[in-house]
Amino acid sequence: MSHPPAEFGAREAALEALLAFYVDAGVDLALDEAPHDRFAEPDRPQPRGEQARPAPAPSDPRQPAPAAASPAAPAFAAAASADETALAARATARGATSLEELREALAAFDGCALKATAKNLVFADGTPGARVMLVGEAPGREEDIQGKPFVGRSGQLLDRMLSAIGLDRGSVYIANIVPWRPPGNRTPTPQEAAICRPFIERQIELCDPDVLVCLGGPSAQALLGVREGILRTRGKWFDYETGRRAIRALATLHPAYLLRQPAQKRLAWRDLRALRKVLDETAGAPQG
Ligand code: URA
Repeated sequence: MSHPPAEFGAREAALEALLAFYVDAGVDLALDEAPHDRFAEPDRPQPRGEQARPAPAPSDPRQPAPAAASPAAPAFAAAASADETALAARATARGATSLEELREALAAFDGCALKATAKNLVFADGTPGARVMLVGEAPGREEDIQGKPFVGRSGQLLDRMLSAIGLDRGSVYIANIVPWRPPGNRTPTPQEAAICRPFIERQIELCDPDVLVCLGGPSAQALLGVREGILRTRGKWFDYETGRRAIRALATLHPAYLLRQPAQKRLAWRDLRALRKVLDETAGAPQG
């Protein structure tokens, strides 16, 4: 029997490390060894909105020219299958009757490509049924490794923010709009966020908190339907319909942003005080 050469293991390990580096950096497309002059390729599909060839003049100038059929077809097919995936996600999420069932359903769900590059599903931390539920954007490297949200540097800041108003991980419930780490910590695409949305919506419904806190713009946009940036929406109160009832929802600055812009902590502090006030005012009040 022939053995692999001694250096084989080292080379394989180096290639594996290089591949892991590419995945971490967000590279998801393999390129050829030889360069291509894309401008010289005659059959290159035209970017959306550009005509491949001059369209024949319409016989009636009031009628639009016929659409270029073939380039549009694959895009339509992709959109249809994304819709089907979103429908499947909705049905799967609706079928879960407890947070544990939801976690299992999510772990078995293959409709989001992020699952393929993530190490772990990052479902939640904290206490199900807590009065406060915080929802971030997506797990980072540390969260992916540990399978828990907000355990990296921004998580440590979040812990300090919570403690400033008398809360901790045991007294809140924490999740993300997307439960798998996007490669290289990039922002989840709108498609990824849309596919995962039924799961976080069901998670909120099953947790049934008194107050929902959206951490950062992507979370506020996905859950509160706002279009403006977080600096405009932070500090405002919204009604979030869980499906069972309307709960109060607050958008605030993401801890990762505060690590980059520490001067903005004063705004986050205002939001935290507003959250504390609402919790105190509604303590013991019947839900509804
Ligand atoms: N940032 C997030 O939005 N979520 C995490 O879990 C960690 C960092």
